[in-house]
Amino acid sequence: MFDHSRQDADKLQKILSEKGKYKNDIIRMILEGKAWDREGISLSSDDQLFAMADGIRREVYGDEVYIRGLIEITNFCRNDCYYCGIRKSNRGLDRYRLDKETILSCCRTGYELGFRTFVLQGGEDPFFTDDIMCDIISRIHEEFPDCAITLSLGERSAESYRRLFEAGGRRYLLRHEAADEGLYRRLHPEEMSPENRKKCLYELKETGFQVGAGIMIGAPFQTIDHIMEDIRFMEELGPDMIGVGPFMHHEDTPFGQYSDGSMELTLRVIALCRMIFPHALIPSTTALASISPNGRARGLKAGANVIMPNLSPADCRDKYSIYNNKAATGLESAQGLENLKKTVAEAGYRIVTDIGDVKR
Ligand code: 5AD
Repeated sequence: MFDHSRQDADKLQKILSEKGKYKNDIIRMILEGKAWDREGISLSSDDQLFAMADGIRREVYGDEVYIRGLIEITNFCRNDCYYCGIRKSNRGLDRYRLDKETILSCCRTGYELGFRTFVLQGGEDPFFTDDIMCDIISRIHEEFPDCAITLSLGERSAESYRRLFEAGGRRYLLRHEAADEGLYRRLHPEEMSPENRKKCLYELKETGFQVGAGIMIGAPFQTIDHIMEDIRFMEELGPDMIGVGPFMHHEDTPFGQYSDGSMELTLRVIALCRMIFPHALIPSTTALASISPNGRARGLKAGANVIMPNLSPADCRDKYSIYNNKAATGLESAQGLENLKKTVAEAGYRIVTDIGDVKR
């Protein structure tokens, strides 16, 4: 469709990956969805941008889509983030924790289906001490030595991160949420700080984890300048994974009355991230799948190369309610995965059974 997309993609990528004069102007115009013409290339539509990002994604990762089995181990959380449905002040929520055997059985189901990465995600639940987490991680590691264990358990101490790594954790997802101090503070209560968030990310990296950062798009008070600041922060951090999804309101939070983020802007950010971080693992997020029936496919076509279907027990999925209308990809059956494979194939990609490590 776009004959010159490869050549233009390379040119655009070069501009975006170097500290050139026009870099910031161009990023801004892309985020604002404006047509432009500079440095011998022009961009007149989002579709062109997505095609360029897709070209770069195919250069690095071909048509492969990696799947990660998401296990939501607890919806208890000591934090009170204004946007999140599992915040501690949401008294209406039915809270749960999975025990070790349940988590292992989720992994077994996942392994049979072809998953080679398990993501243990949860609220910041003090119940999951280092001892308890390390026991769970080493059991998974023992039983599935050919799988990667990804953790997404929020802010912990450097010592804790070290122990989780020693037990067998290899990747850690901790979205930075907002690099800008002012915005970060408007999204979180006083006891949370962007400094600590960033510190945790650097400590994780130091420990040896492959690190995932990321943001919501369209969170209340967020501007294009904030997103540009987020990109700058990630350039400094050099994340292996980047999670980007639209903000979705949750009625039982202080942000319950705000509208959901835009899918188009989310896709532009995904495409930009693919061009600036060609090797990154970028999921087509659940939030994107939740905002539109074709969100998942559109994320892939804009440069995403990872999908994280839910392997949690079916009766927990509704309870892990971080926002309203959250999509629950029904992967409890092999049929669920077959349907997902079909969607991915129709978009022009291929789900693989692979540990799916970052290519550097
Ligand atoms: N809408 C979209 N994403 C959300 N998250 C939390 N609450 C919401 C929401 N209301 C995201 C945060 C967090 C990740 C697990 O989910 O970015 O890091």
